[in-house]
Amino acid sequence: MGKEFSITPRPVPRVETRYRRIVTPLPHPESVATLERLRRFEPLSMRGQPPLVWDRAENIFVFDKYGNRWLDWSGGVLVANAGHGATEVKQAILDQVHSGLIYNYVFPSEERAALVECLAGFAPEGLKKVFLLTTGAEAVECAIKLSRAHGLKAGGKRKIGIVGFQRGFHGRTLGAQQAGGIPGQKAWIINEDPAILNAPFPDGYWQTDTGFETFLKALERRGLTPADIAGVVMETYQGVGPDFAPAEYVRRLAGWCREHRVALVFDEVQAGFGRTGRFWAFEHYGVTPDLICCGKGISGSLPLSAVIGGAEIMDQFLPGSMTSTQSGNPVCCAAALASIRKIVNENLTANAARLEPVLREGLEKIQRRHPDVIGHATARGLVGGLQTVKSGRKEADADLAHDIVERCFHKGLLMFAPVGAWGQTVKIGPPLTIPGEALEEGLTVLSEAVDEAVAAMDKINSGRSSKTTRRVGSGVDA
Ligand SMILES: Cc1ncc(COP(=O)(O)O)c(C=O)c1O
Repeated sequence: MGKEFSITPRPVPRVETRYRRIVTPLPHPESVATLERLRRFEPLSMRGQPPLVWDRAENIFVFDKYGNRWLDWSGGVLVANAGHGATEVKQAILDQVHSGLIYNYVFPSEERAALVECLAGFAPEGLKKVFLLTTGAEAVECAIKLSRAHGLKAGGKRKIGIVGFQRGFHGRTLGAQQAGGIPGQKAWIINEDPAILNAPFPDGYWQTDTGFETFLKALERRGLTPADIAGVVMETYQGVGPDFAPAEYVRRLAGWCREHRVALVFDEVQAGFGRTGRFWAFEHYGVTPDLICCGKGISGSLPLSAVIGGAEIMDQFLPGSMTSTQSGNPVCCAAALASIRKIVNENLTANAARLEPVLREGLEKIQRRHPDVIGHATARGLVGGLQTVKSGRKEADADLAHDIVERCFHKGLLMFAPVGAWGQTVKIGPPLTIPGEALEEGLTVLSEAVDEAVAAMDKINSGRSSKTTRRVGSGVDA
């Protein structure tokens, strides 16, 4: 089981700065009734986040009802790229609601037409068909289906294999979890599809051999050849890091896919819409995929996802046979259009690129202070992470990551629960609207929290010999 944060109110030091305000015990005693109601009526799996009952969220801030204000480094879960509750997005939602159309199944609508045209406009040459869905996992499922159908046509019934990557995450549905590479999360499946496999992800930390041969060897080990493979599904950066593959690896992968008529799918659910300092994260590699999966920051608010690809792969299903009840809900489309316009008009992608050195250097500085327990520190654009390990070993330390996030929460810096295959990553994903000064303040807070958590851990460790806490499949997986 993943770790829970305590919901027993406890006094915390008062904080009052331009970006943070903590003036009550946490969680606030009056919010406990709501936390308990959620515990009573929701499954256990929903308990993982810091116990803050969100009252409202504005731009880079999250507020409770009791006068506390957090600097948000979660973006919800890397969703609020354009800032929480952006005026333009709220207005677009309200206008759409007042227009009289809030739902229309897949009957034609102007709103859907505007959004698919807009998304196609951002996609590379040749990828001009857009299918709207609701969740990121759904987009990945659809990409697996499209890849497999394409493989069948290209190579017959044996060409159905899907290659995902170790430690990868694509959502929590059947196909997405099998393509994903977190073994603890697949335990419930038992009869995993033998045609779905995971290759090592060349992150340079957990997987030190970053050569493309590791991919080919993974196929060989399963007795597969390119004639058996329909698609490769890769998070453009692996969320657990964030970790990018070496560009040379991806270029060879793209070439291999092209040569063998294998669909290359980039899961941009988390990476897209400016997060990494480029509109699409795959731009860092200089390659073009066959399919792009989008979600999260696409609307920055209401549920929406998309698959983008070329006609050859997108047009395989006949009219009426690839749809969904909420494909392109007009209110969600309106929100997405407004959010994308804001990202573009306010150059938020450029803001992410501009602040990357601040975030990266801040995280590296923390790592230099604690090299024994911060095993890996990475950042690209405005996504970053610290991976905690047992002192001097390359073994995840979920307890330390959890403690760091909890201490930040008490100090008015909000992050979601640690992520990753073993719950070891303290992940940073603020709205792309964050000013440099707020980012720097957050880094100071994070640094203090790490110092304190490491000191507390040292104290516990000196009191007892050892405590093994490598967790499998805990936390969210953003
Ligand atoms: C890379 C990636 N793909 C897919 C998903 C699944 O998205 P959703 O939770 O909307 O199904 C996530 C969610 O964290 C993700 O990070």
